[in-house]
Amino acid sequence: MHSDDESMNSWYSSLQCVLEKSDKATWEHSVRVSELCKVIAEGLGLNSKQINFATLAGLFHDIGKTFMTNTVNYPGKLAEREKNLVFYHPLLGERFISIFCGTFPSQVAEGITFHHERLNGRGYPYSLCGEEIPLIPRMVAVADVFDAMNSSRPYRGALSKKDIVAELDRPGYDVKVVSALLKHYGREYNYKIKGS
Ligand SMILES: [Fe+2]
Ligand SMILES: [Fe+2]
Repeated sequence: MHSDDESMNSWYSSLQCVLEKSDKATWEHSVRVSELCKVIAEGLGLNSKQINFATLAGLFHDIGKTFMTNTVNYPGKLAEREKNLVFYHPLLGERFISIFCGTFPSQVAEGITFHHERLNGRGYPYSLCGEEIPLIPRMVAVADVFDAMNSSRPYRGALSKKDIVAELDRPGYDVKVVSALLKHYGREYNYKIKGS
């Protein structure tokens, strides 16, 4: 293995520890999102380097949320502070990982920074539109939302497959990315590609 790859891998292992120890639920979600990103990347026929970038972007997309775990007992305007952290967690994550890892593949950094952007401009923090959003964050966005809907929360159960398909069919998500993911599950999701 190339020494750059070795030092990068040791940074990744340290980052995994940071995330795993600070927030177990986010860590488990991130592992699932990472696996889904891999499925999408393979479904889109990307090369092994791109598959690796997508997998890493999925794994670290929410690392900015590690800054939120100490806010629970924060006095004062907790709601406002948490709202800001939610809004800026993609940027905090990208900054954190850049400082922590030094040189960092731009595709992975983009996957973290832009994973809440939507093709229709309704995402955050930059409200980017269409082609302004690179492929890897489009993949992380779909994997992220899919996992959120497919997991139960303290206040609700997992959504039905029909509701998941309906949500991913809305404007904002890349149709090719959505179909690469849902095709993986075959008939289970009964997804019809738009225009087919
Ligand atoms: Fe996020
Ligand atoms: Fe997420």
